[in-house]
Amino acid sequence: MIGESLGTSGWRGRPYRVVGVNRSEISDLAHTRHPIASPLSNETVDRLLALAVTGQRSVLDLGCGDGTWLLRALRREPTLTAVGVDVSGAGFDRVLEQANREGLGERLQLVHADVREWRTTEKFDVVLSIGAAYAFGGLLPTLAAADEHLHPDGQLLLGDCIWEQAPSEQTLALLGAATDDYCDLSTTVQAVDSAGWVPVEGHVSTLQEWDSYEWSWTGSLARWALDHPDHPDSQQVMTASVEHRRAWLGGYRGTLGFLTMLLRRSTLNAAPLR
Ligand SMILES: C[S@@+](CC[C@H](N)C(=O)[O-])C[C@H]1O[C@@H](n2cnc3c(N)ncnc32)[C@H](O)[C@@H]1O
Repeated sequence: MIGESLGTSGWRGRPYRVVGVNRSEISDLAHTRHPIASPLSNETVDRLLALAVTGQRSVLDLGCGDGTWLLRALRREPTLTAVGVDVSGAGFDRVLEQANREGLGERLQLVHADVREWRTTEKFDVVLSIGAAYAFGGLLPTLAAADEHLHPDGQLLLGDCIWEQAPSEQTLALLGAATDDYCDLSTTVQAVDSAGWVPVEGHVSTLQEWDSYEWSWTGSLARWALDHPDHPDSQQVMTASVEHRRAWLGGYRGTLGFLTMLLRRSTLNAAPLR
C-alpha cells in the first residue's frame, strides 16, 4: 500500500524527514479516525457547515482532502451540488462510494488536480478551503483564488493557521516554518479585512480540538504499524508517528493555532465612526 516519496505532517503538508513513504497514503492512514484533516471537532464542522451551506445551491472545496467536508455538506442540503479539488486524490474512492450508498453520488464531483491550475467557468455560492492555504502560498493568495470561483454575493469558509503565541526557534525548526508564515489572531483578521472580506462567523480551534486531532493522527499511524509488524513500511510509518508527536508535544502544541472564518465580501467603508 505504501509507495515512494516523502511523508507529510498531514494537516499542513510540511515534509517529514522520513523517506520512502507516500505522502498521500500516509496522510490517508493518519486520518482513519479523524477524516476531517484539520483540528476541528465534529460539532464545530457541523456548526460551520450549517452556517456556510444552508439554503445554498453549489459549493466548491479547494484542497478538499478525501471529500468528507462535501459529503457532510450534501447530507445537509438536498439540492446542493458539490465539487472538490485535491492534488492527492487519496480517499476519493472511499468517499464517492459512501456518497453513492447514500444516494448523494450524483451531486458530488471530486477532481484530482492542482488547485493552482484547475479552472472552471462555473461560479459557486460557497467556496471552502480548510487547511490548504499553503497550496496557494498563504492566506491572501487563497482569498484571491477563492474570489475567482465565487458568485459576487457568495461566501467563503476559510481555515488557516495562526500563531497563538510567538513561536520559539525550536518550534519553527520542528515545524519547518518561518515566523512570518502566520500571524496572530488579530493581525490575521485585519489582513482579511484589508483585503475586502468581512468575517461573519469565526472559530479558533481549542486545545482540546488540537489534542484530539493530534492523538488521532499519531495514534492511527502507530496502530497501523503495530498491527502490521512484518510490512516493509511498518518501521517508517511508526517513525512518522513518533516524529510528528515530538514536533507537536515538544514544539507547536499551544503555539500553533487554527482559525476558521466564514467570510463575505464587502464594499462598505468599515472606518470607525468618530
Ligand atoms: C490539511 S489537508 C486539509 C484537507 C481538507 N480541507 C480537510 O480539512 O479535511 C490539506 C489538503 O490540501 C491538499 N493540497 C495541498 N496542495 C495542493 C494543491 N497544490 N492542489 C490541490 N490540493 C492541494 C492536500 O493534498 C491536502 O488534502
